[in-house]
Amino acid sequence: MAGRRVPAVSHEIEQPMKLKPVKGMQDILPEEVRRWQVVEERFRRTVELFGFAEVRTPLLEATELFQRSTGETTEVVEKQMFTLERGSELLSLRPEGTPSCARTFIHESVYAKQPVSRWYYIGPMFRAEQPQRGRYRQFHQAGCEVYGDPGPLCDAELIDMLYGFLSELGIAELKVSVNSLGGSESRARYRDELIRYLKPRAAELSPHAQERFEQNPLRVLDSKDERDRAAAAGAPSIIDLLTPEDSAHWQGLLGALDALGTPYQVDQQLVRGLDYYTRTTFEISSTTGAIGSQNALLGGGRYDDMIEGLGGPATPAIGFAMGLERLLLALGDLALPPRSWVALAPLGEAQRNPALTLAKSLRQHGFITEVDGRGTSLKSMLRKANAGGARFCVVIGEAELARGVVQLKDLERHEQEEVPLTTLAERLAARVSAPANSTESEARG
Ligand code: HAM
Repeated sequence: MAGRRVPAVSHEIEQPMKLKPVKGMQDILPEEVRRWQVVEERFRRTVELFGFAEVRTPLLEATELFQRSTGETTEVVEKQMFTLERGSELLSLRPEGTPSCARTFIHESVYAKQPVSRWYYIGPMFRAEQPQRGRYRQFHQAGCEVYGDPGPLCDAELIDMLYGFLSELGIAELKVSVNSLGGSESRARYRDELIRYLKPRAAELSPHAQERFEQNPLRVLDSKDERDRAAAAGAPSIIDLLTPEDSAHWQGLLGALDALGTPYQVDQQLVRGLDYYTRTTFEISSTTGAIGSQNALLGGGRYDDMIEGLGGPATPAIGFAMGLERLLLALGDLALPPRSWVALAPLGEAQRNPALTLAKSLRQHGFITEVDGRGTSLKSMLRKANAGGARFCVVIGEAELARGVVQLKDLERHEQEEVPLTTLAERLAARVSAPANSTESEARG
């Protein structure tokens, strides 16, 4: 990659270049982007109601940031980062948003300005995974991070917010899983207990788990390998080993979820694939729509040690990230807002400049307007208007323009009427807001 010299293109044998996107990455065409925008807009509205404000951080970070936060023994850091060298710098495309937000929070001394910060982000993440439905190498997350609130009320509210968001979008068969990994003391106890449990079963584990389980035994609980899953099935539960403080936090979370009426299941195998979690972890999955086997719509949890671990002051933190591709697969058809745009069709050379000024005035009235300046036939201009999804075509002819009128074609209702230029905007507005069967008589009258 970079850092190396990029080889020059060979012109000796001209070969057409490959135009497919890079493996695991997708082009999203404008029609599809409209579905994304609907979801993103709803996400913004929801999280802003809870006091979250948007943050934007770079796509590239020092590789070391992810090694120190996401964790060196996680699959993400071990195998999946897109890393490049540039001079003496080792940089990686962010595989997740949490480390970048934490770095920004510390670097900008945000902790010194506000006791609690609530941030959200929407953007692309990069992991070199084996692509399949719902799993890509470039994917998009919408996520939130809260700094400075130790919970557990905040944890419960976040989970309830997400359950409400997904249900209101219309996603069925939602499953909310929660667990606690305890703080560092409970974790250390659990680690020892888990190693004690796994050691006599080491030969049954996958080769990767055999190598790693003493270093990071929790990964075995998270492994997708059948051998590890079988061994993990009877593993001890961390909930039984929580310190009194961690246990109080856990009980507080369940109590608050009950008070909110959020349906949840306790899943003691839910350790999550990243190293930084403490206490609360959660995931929401669904088996609806075209989502397939990659059915975790979102995941998150508390990470009370990260900010201090990266050199900031001790600051409790919690967050989640939702995979937008998976959300859209689960959603299926979405009711998109109508695109009531207007195509202007000047019939001759002399009508083209008047069409430009008319378009300007229609846009000032808020109509999405396009001028067809190609100088082609009316038939071809109408074809373009229809193909582009226009609701109206305004035909500007020489004789009509001399009389101060145009022909307004309602392409959806297959109607046509002559309208004075001075009242065109009002007429368009009336047609847009009129119910489907009322315009014909109005148009005649
Ligand atoms: P994560 O579980 O690694 O957590 O990812 C969160 C969500 O991103 C997943 O549930 C899934 O919907 C989506 N996702 C992950 N990988 C892919 C992929 N290769 N293709 C498509 N979608 C994917 C995190 O990333 C944490 N940063 C969440 C968090 C925020 N924890 C605390 N704060």
